[in-house]
Amino acid sequence: MCGIVGYTGHEEACGIIIDGLKRLEYRGYDSAGIALQQQGELIVRKKKGKIADLEKFIGSEKLTGTTGIGHTRWATHGAPSDVNAHPHTSSDGRIAVVHNGIVENYVELRQKLANEEKIEFRTETDTEVIAQMIGVNYRKNGGNLEDAVYDAVQEMRGAYAIGVIAADTPDRIVAYRKDAPLIAGLGGDCKFIASDIPALLKYVNDIYLIENDEMVVCTPDSIRIYDENRRPVRREVMKVNWSIEDAEKGGYEHFMLKEIHEQPKAVQDTLLRRIDDDGRICLDGISLTKEDLQNITKIYIVACGTAYHAGLIGKYAIEKMARIPVEIDVASEFRYRDPVIDEKTLFIAISQSGETLDTLAALREARSHGARILSVCNVVGSSVARESDDVFYTWAGPEIAVASTKAYTTQLVCMYLIALYLGDLTGNISREYYDHILEELLAMPDKIQQTLDKAPEIEELARHLYNRTQVFFIGRGVDSAVALEGSLKLKEISYINSFAIAAGELKHGTIALMEPETIVIALATQDRLFEKMYSNIVEVKARMAHVVSVAKEGNDKIEAESTEVIYIPQCDDEVTPILTVIPLQLFAYYVAKIKGEDIDKPRNLAKSVTVE
Ligand code: F6R
Repeated sequence: MCGIVGYTGHEEACGIIIDGLKRLEYRGYDSAGIALQQQGELIVRKKKGKIADLEKFIGSEKLTGTTGIGHTRWATHGAPSDVNAHPHTSSDGRIAVVHNGIVENYVELRQKLANEEKIEFRTETDTEVIAQMIGVNYRKNGGNLEDAVYDAVQEMRGAYAIGVIAADTPDRIVAYRKDAPLIAGLGGDCKFIASDIPALLKYVNDIYLIENDEMVVCTPDSIRIYDENRRPVRREVMKVNWSIEDAEKGGYEHFMLKEIHEQPKAVQDTLLRRIDDDGRICLDGISLTKEDLQNITKIYIVACGTAYHAGLIGKYAIEKMARIPVEIDVASEFRYRDPVIDEKTLFIAISQSGETLDTLAALREARSHGARILSVCNVVGSSVARESDDVFYTWAGPEIAVASTKAYTTQLVCMYLIALYLGDLTGNISREYYDHILEELLAMPDKIQQTLDKAPEIEELARHLYNRTQVFFIGRGVDSAVALEGSLKLKEISYINSFAIAAGELKHGTIALMEPETIVIALATQDRLFEKMYSNIVEVKARMAHVVSVAKEGNDKIEAESTEVIYIPQCDDEVTPILTVIPLQLFAYYVAKIKGEDIDKPRNLAKSVTVE
């Protein structure tokens, strides 16, 4: 969760690091800080709150120095406060550390340092323990920063990426990665480290992906990478094809709104990467063959949050088209419940960031049982992507807002393509059906745009309903899965207590909560389930609920029992989720906006959850 940035070069580092931190703020925003090398000293400034609060705190103070590190925090150990903010320093103030992750054995390391080195700790954080350890090592080894970092990480257990500078080792950043993201950026006469690509896009397009248990040493002229045995590593440079505009708001008030409106293009890009000139799905770079598939008896889809909701739709599609049984689980449950998996299982991990620790751990668990791993991922070179046998990339571009939108719709596209491909390989679907669904998918960018054009109508609806305290989302079939996503979007950015339930389940308990004016958002896009869904709408309407229905154009019948109807363009039942979710995203956005919430940085959340 937390984001780290480091710069060493010939420019003033402060502004560059703060700019990078702003682009990583989605990773955590409860405190921020910076440390700079300044003529043999380390200058540290840190503050509880967002990066803007840190900037205000620095004010007009001129912080010079051409090498430095910075941090934006999502608290794990120690409450958000000025003192617990990073960077942390050794007692003598000569070493500064920024850290993303958790040191699991920090209590025993802290005790050891207190007993043996008489260190007096100033904070409750695991990161101060790292700074103190490196400080002790550095003092004892006569000032070799690389040795000091290397020796410290040998004692640390957990998942972490750290960046370290020393007052007496000018123009040098030493960083180390273990199970938390870390990249290094190559400028002509400057070098960077960062947790994620957007931090560096303004400055460099050439990066190195740092692997687990690797140490990176940056100076203005060079980047050296070492493996866990400190042997030099040769790494290919990766060219980043995202542009700086992709990581900026481009005139939109919030990243979330920009990303909602980018969906036609994101869906189109994801589709076109996988459809060849003959109108067939091409799996360039994917090694799964028909023979492999004949050995697969079960598919497991595992993910978290919004990605899990995309997986639910994937289960519907794969079971329908390929007739292979699909189990689905949230990653944090999967790994602890002894799932039945073996070498005949295809394990599909879905993750926008590719760094979600629960998903990564579930993937490793599946691999240890011999499963074959296919991932659906948005970030090239991320941990999930690297640890998979095959990767199906979403081409959504960087998703900065904490609430996921374009990642979800592009994940849906991938799930449909995988289902069609498997259906074709297993011979379960006809050529006509294959062509029909592909055509439906190819029509999606235009239809998403038509749905987005209803934004003013949805904003108006939000204006009427924004002050309600409870909202239910109901649906049948794939709509019940989209209901979960609509509900998550609303609760995470507007803080309204919302709840999603399969419409048929209502009468088994939850309908007890219906009161006059309870808001029910009824997703009724499935033609084949419409009569059943209509009965559920009648049931809640009879309890005086305020029903907002989402239905396909031409469905006038629904108007009789709905307070409002939002129409989506006509399409095959199978692929409606790509459209149904759009008004729900917009509704959540406008409700949060009218309530004045911090939409791109909702409270208590971070985009990339790299802790358990
Ligand atoms: C919600 C949201 C989260 C993520 C979840 C998984 O809007 O963004 O629920 O979907 O944390 O993240 P990834 O996909 O990066 O593994």
